[in-house]
Amino acid sequence: MESFLIKGGVPLRGTVEISGSKNAALPIMAAALLTDEPCVIRRVPDLSDTRFMVQILQSLGAEVTFENGTVTVHAKKVRGYADYELVRKMRGSICIAGPLLARLRKARISLPGGCIIGARPINLHLKGFEALGAKIKIEGGYVDATAKKLSGSSLFLGGRAGPTVLGTANVMMAATLAAGVTVIESAACEPEVVDLADFLTAMGAKISGAGSPTITITGVKKLHGAEHEVIPDRIEAATFLIAAAATNGEVVLRGARADHLRAVIDKLDEAGVSVTRRGKNLVARRGGKLKPVDITTLPYAGFPTDVQAQMMALLALVPGISIITERIFESRFMHVSELARLGADIEIEGPSAIVKGGRPLSGAPVMASDLRASAALVIAGLAAKGATQVNRIYHLDRGYERMDEKLRKLGARIERVEEK
Ligand code: EPU
Repeated sequence: MESFLIKGGVPLRGTVEISGSKNAALPIMAAALLTDEPCVIRRVPDLSDTRFMVQILQSLGAEVTFENGTVTVHAKKVRGYADYELVRKMRGSICIAGPLLARLRKARISLPGGCIIGARPINLHLKGFEALGAKIKIEGGYVDATAKKLSGSSLFLGGRAGPTVLGTANVMMAATLAAGVTVIESAACEPEVVDLADFLTAMGAKISGAGSPTITITGVKKLHGAEHEVIPDRIEAATFLIAAAATNGEVVLRGARADHLRAVIDKLDEAGVSVTRRGKNLVARRGGKLKPVDITTLPYAGFPTDVQAQMMALLALVPGISIITERIFESRFMHVSELARLGADIEIEGPSAIVKGGRPLSGAPVMASDLRASAALVIAGLAAKGATQVNRIYHLDRGYERMDEKLRKLGARIERVEEK
């Protein structure tokens, strides 16, 4: 297993290119299963998760290539079966269910199970499929979804924590080939849902309202091949904005979309971090003394849960008390005890973390528990005095394209080493 060895204390300076969005690319790749014609998807980040999606599509019978950021998928024929070994490794792979159900009228997919950040149920995905006329059977750890015919319907997809991103994606994909009109209420508004809708529209689907809580899909008989360029990764961009602030540096982000980062930029501004536009780029630097802030994670356009851990690393450096409340996932605080190993003073009180910031951080060996927690540990390590070894960075490689290389270009002393 590999680790990052970081010698902290160097302000990040320079320009970083933001990659394509992982969470947009995964459902878009799955959407290519909806047609028997070839699809070309550009700006796909080279990550273990996107490589894994390539394998899943291949295992379902599609011909897939992935070169220089471009994925081509030709799903002339597909099988509707995904076993536990495939789904278990990446919970995001559940987004093959909608396309398979639409294309084959049947899908047998292993239940994904929970993960370190929470239970991750799929009840809302299934509720949506049932509303379209599918029969759902759960047996032996598998979901069997079958439908003689899919018919448009009006359905409410809100759950305990609000809308569901991949649930919205799944139902939207299934509805593209259903007969009649589907209206999804309480749909997720994330930019990744809009990007998927744009791709589906390019394939011939009829969709309106993506990006709002009401999405309307008018079913069509057939979808055709299409080309698409994936949006930039707003979570990667947020991570670099925060890393610039944490190291007291100045970083130019090329290709980031400010309109997808409003809540993050607003909170950074409140904390005393200046994020400005320079042409098409974003520039992050400290605006003066940093101030503590309170954050609650919410569905888009609120503050993203996928940036909660990174923001906690920054706030651990800011004198005063910041309160971070996690409203999307029930146990997404695994990074707290690892940040404590670097000297951070953080207490968990129910869904909130109370960050008593301003204690100096000093390097130590730490363990990555999930993707965004790993990014938080890297940020803390970059800001800490001395050497930090972040172990198990395979979590990080799932969602950040060449993060070590990108950070080195910004002056960071970071190396990829074999875990001892
Ligand atoms: N939920 C239900 N029932 C469902 C589906 C979800 O109760 O059927 C609950 C979840 O347990 C959670 C909330 O709804 O409390 C939101 O979950 P959502 O379904 O939106 O999450 P997801 O679609 O499975 C995507 C991203 C996550 C990101 C979340 C929230 C992908 C591949 N994954 O997951 O990304 O945290 O949306 O924004 O798009 C990451 O990239 O690190 C990551 C975990």
